[in-house]
Amino acid sequence: MTLGTVGPMRPVPGHIVRPDYVASGRIGTSTEPQVLVGAALDRMRHACAVAAEVLRRSGELVAVGVTTDLLDAAAHDTYLELGAYPSTLGYRGYPKSLCTSVNGVVCHGIPDDRPLRGGDIVNIDVTAFVEGMHGDTSATFVVGSVDEPTAALVATTREATLRGIAAIEPGMPLQRIAAAIEPFAHSRGFDVIREYGGHGIGETFHAAPHVYHHLVTTDRFVVEPGMTFTVEPMLTSGTADFTRAPDGWTEHTDDDLPSAQFEHTVVVTDVGAEILTVTADGRSVAGTLDELDLSRP
Ligand code: MF3
Ligand code: CO
Ligand code: CO
Repeated sequence: MTLGTVGPMRPVPGHIVRPDYVASGRIGTSTEPQVLVGAALDRMRHACAVAAEVLRRSGELVAVGVTTDLLDAAAHDTYLELGAYPSTLGYRGYPKSLCTSVNGVVCHGIPDDRPLRGGDIVNIDVTAFVEGMHGDTSATFVVGSVDEPTAALVATTREATLRGIAAIEPGMPLQRIAAAIEPFAHSRGFDVIREYGGHGIGETFHAAPHVYHHLVTTDRFVVEPGMTFTVEPMLTSGTADFTRAPDGWTEHTDDDLPSAQFEHTVVVTDVGAEILTVTADGRSVAGTLDELDLSRP
């Protein structure tokens, strides 16, 4: 595991509204489950659409030779253009507007000066704060062409995320999301990270519930209509054990084999779940439920 050089924090103009933690260092909003209806849900839809748009435009820039800092710079400008604050910038001291997690990095990779190489995979994780709400979404992109096992890891992680979302019904135990993800990942020969999960999100970036992606049968949380949370499994080709780098953020697999992640923010409806992190045309580079074929094992 080697780290590059991280540049200075990018400035944000004064008219962009910041989350409370940026100035105070403390999270003042509720960390209870976020339940959104009416105008609050409309504001959440907007924040999520902005996040999806930043992710789409960032992903288009992924290419051999591009640094993750360039992805951060471009994304930073897009957030500002769309009137949003990059939620990660100054969150618990995190210094950048995106997370970029390359190859064996599980999550929270910090954009730096290292160019992407052909055969790499990179997860870009975008969180936008606008109209008082956070929208959170990520996708894993391939750089040039990747080997077949790595391509399978990425495809399986994408499908696992969508399967987890498709399993959601109002009134159900939250653990059914994990039940849709973990056995599926194992059946394809991949493991699931256990120490990080999805999270409630809305006015608060990270709220209850903790959304496990591996089965925890003691989890008693029940899903209710209007709840907004993320589903964001990280799958690994080898070990699911990982270690934090000396930068205090970058989590990397202990065997350095690749890890992939996809993430959506969803709202629970009266019949299932709706993906909120879609662009104005209803699409997402992280995938949508219409690509899912549950008739296949
Ligand atoms: N976006 C990440 C998530 O999915 C959180 C990143 S927090 C940071 O929850 F500080 F690492 F950026
Ligand atoms: Co998240
Ligand atoms: Co995220």
